[in-house]
Amino acid sequence: MRWLAALLCVPITVLAAPPSAPRSGLEFASADVRALQADDFANPGMLWVDRGAKLWSTPAGAAAQSCAGCHREAPVSMKGVATRYPRFDRESGAVLNLEARINRCRSTRQLADPLGFESDELLALTAYVAHQSRGQVPIPADDAASRAARERGREQYFRRQGQMNLACTHCHDRLAGRRLLAETISEGHGNGYPAYRLEWQGLGSLQRRLRACFTGVRAEAPPFGAPELVELELYLTQRAGPLRIETPAVRR
Ligand code: HEC
Ligand code: HEC
Repeated sequence: MRWLAALLCVPITVLAAPPSAPRSGLEFASADVRALQADDFANPGMLWVDRGAKLWSTPAGAAAQSCAGCHREAPVSMKGVATRYPRFDRESGAVLNLEARINRCRSTRQLADPLGFESDELLALTAYVAHQSRGQVPIPADDAASRAARERGREQYFRRQGQMNLACTHCHDRLAGRRLLAETISEGHGNGYPAYRLEWQGLGSLQRRLRACFTGVRAEAPPFGAPELVELELYLTQRAGPLRIETPAVRR
């Protein structure tokens, strides 16, 4: 861990800029993890996608409406939708990630209680919707409010945090490819989420992964749904450039 301690003395300005061609976390994963992700029959994340497909056509809430009742066939209506999130939503006056966008339909269209963060239902629906954009390149939102939020996310990405006094950039730009304990540090892209993580024995959102990174540097993690996390997600989408959506990815 000596190299990590040495980093504490490096001013952020001398750290390398992100490499010009971003590399998916998949490229840093071990061969067995890559094999799991590549095979839809072996990929455990596909169980959530299948659950999402069932929930899609299950009526819910006081409106007794299913997602399919309004949106019909997800492979048609939801194709490309995940490439546009997170983005500013005028109606709710906030930047929404895909989970929050789905929960808005839950409360305003189905008249049902919003689904809990990291609940199987919300993960399943999010994975199902995002999966319809697998292979597509995200288009970072370009309205003024989204741009301002993304800039706050960018500042956060370069800000030192926690008892270890490390910023995201220290690990995910400077140290990508190096090992940290049992893991190989990737470039920290969110293009595979929600993702199945072997350590979690389940699917988890990008926010869950980000919160683990906060805890990793012994910083207090913002709560699920906090603007800080959504703003980071927004910045990560732009930072990932042409990386395609891989949901559901598999990680260690
Ligand atoms: C009563 C009709 C209705 C139901 C039921 C409904 N939605 Fe929607 N949904 C809409 C409408 C209308 C919009 C677009 C207008 C808006 O922003 O509200 C929308 C927008 C969306 C979007 C954003 C699309 C985009 O292009 O940005 C997503 C994602 C979505 N819905 C998912 C769902 C899911 C998942 C469910 C089931 C849990 C669901 N919706 C249930 C009517 C509905
Ligand atoms: C001390 C080093 C360290 C710091 C600082 C750190 N992370 Fe991570 N992060 C990791 C490790 C280790 C992993 C798991 C291996 C991997 O995928 O990189 C990870 C994973 C990720 C992933 C998932 C990548 C994938 O493909 O599954 C994202 C996204 C991410 N980090 C973003 C961030 C953000 C944003 C910050 C700043 C708030 C941050 N990290 C701070 C070490 C760090």
